[in-house]
Amino acid sequence: MPSFRVMPVDNLLAKKEGRANRLRKVLGPLDLTALGLGAIIGTGIFVITGVAAARYAGPGLIISFIVAGLSSSLAALVYAELAATVPVAGSAYTFTYISLGELLAWLVGWNLVLEYLVAAGAVSIGWSSYFVSLLQSAGINLPLAFTASPAAGGIFNLPAVFITGLITILIISGTQHSAAVNKIIVAGKVAVILLFIFLGVKHINPVNWQPFLPFGVAGIFHGAAIIFFAFIGFDAVSTAAEEVKRPQRTLPLGILLSLGLSTFFYILVTIVLTGIVSYKVLDTASPMAAALSAIGLRWGSALVATGALAGLTSVMLVTMYGQSRIFFAMSRDGLLPFLFSRLHPRFQTPLWNSLLIGTGVALIGALLPINIVAELTNIGTLSAFFAVSIGLIILRRTRPDLPRPFRLPGYPATPLLAAGAAFYLAVNLPPLTWARFFIWVILGAILYFSYGYRHSALGQESTALKQVKKRPPLLFPAPLRKPGSKKSSPLKPDK
Ligand code: ALA
Repeated sequence: MPSFRVMPVDNLLAKKEGRANRLRKVLGPLDLTALGLGAIIGTGIFVITGVAAARYAGPGLIISFIVAGLSSSLAALVYAELAATVPVAGSAYTFTYISLGELLAWLVGWNLVLEYLVAAGAVSIGWSSYFVSLLQSAGINLPLAFTASPAAGGIFNLPAVFITGLITILIISGTQHSAAVNKIIVAGKVAVILLFIFLGVKHINPVNWQPFLPFGVAGIFHGAAIIFFAFIGFDAVSTAAEEVKRPQRTLPLGILLSLGLSTFFYILVTIVLTGIVSYKVLDTASPMAAALSAIGLRWGSALVATGALAGLTSVMLVTMYGQSRIFFAMSRDGLLPFLFSRLHPRFQTPLWNSLLIGTGVALIGALLPINIVAELTNIGTLSAFFAVSIGLIILRRTRPDLPRPFRLPGYPATPLLAAGAAFYLAVNLPPLTWARFFIWVILGAILYFSYGYRHSALGQESTALKQVKKRPPLLFPAPLRKPGSKKSSPLKPDK
């Protein structure tokens, strides 16, 4: 089946180096770890933690964070190996193309739109509500008509559009600028988290940890499924692969370090949070601020809100950046129009691609309510984790010869467990989310067969190769290749 044609890895790496529309290598290990922290630390810890403790896990949320962190680290190991082996911009999409074939790669790329573009829309709505409430606490009231979607009683959400526009300009202006701004924001939000831990630790009262599991052991897993959202983002590091100096070493380091640090912060925050107040009072959108107010530190709540605003900004920055690099790779492979890989002549960033993404995110942020867009993010991400874990096993079998600067430990148990964990978390999501996801996948398949299938660069190369083979033999055939030269044609797809 042509739609299961597999992209040859050597072909991909050769093309990446040979093309004119090549991205600049400007990112080092610190940029990359900051990129990971920028994408990971956001709504999950600043917003969702409270509800997860109050309604699902109680103080046992500490264990939920360990469970979700462990299952995310399995997937992170898979991404680390693949990103170091194939340092190309498309992340999960590219990893699927070289292992499971074109149709599945397209569908993974299509599902990543849920993890990146749609998620950025959801985060922009969260950003807007934090922004509005911060202004309110300073005595400035913005009219509801311009701060909420039609479903929430407004006309459109202007702050969400504003932050999206700002980030789009930043992304177009150059990867170095984006990385520099991201580092400042990350430093700010990590400082807020450390301050929270420092201020709160003295007020821990172990009585608040009794009972530790008010919702039973099942509560730990429900909590883990919800706060899995807090770990999403480490894979965004691999979308930067083509802009990284020494990617074989830096990519695994960036992925694993950013996830490890975030998990460490999350566990400490949850220990302090559930230790200073009863889990019952955490049923709020700003749990860290509420906890600080409860121990008399009112100024702390404004500070945490500012940290959250910074956190959400960098999540948007990195997810929109990641989306542009995935579209870039798909366009270079012919599965999306050329416009998506055309670079800005001065900044060398994908201009039209970033503008279209900015428009999509702004429309979602302006017009849709948060719950509809947020629930699709987890399932889109988990489907990519599943495909990539299976893809790693296939690639180890089909291309055992590839240089692998980083090999995950515990093969094949680790990728199998990573796939199993992604599947387990996905089946725990509500049926309505699955129904919406199926509609999304069917829409993606229609798009693939009406555009991608016919324009695929790999497909066109295979057809050209077949036509060359069909031609009658030349009267004076080209000289034979030197004996011993085993170099295969770069046009020939792998089995
Ligand atoms: N992990 C990111 C967040 O919590 C998506 O906002």
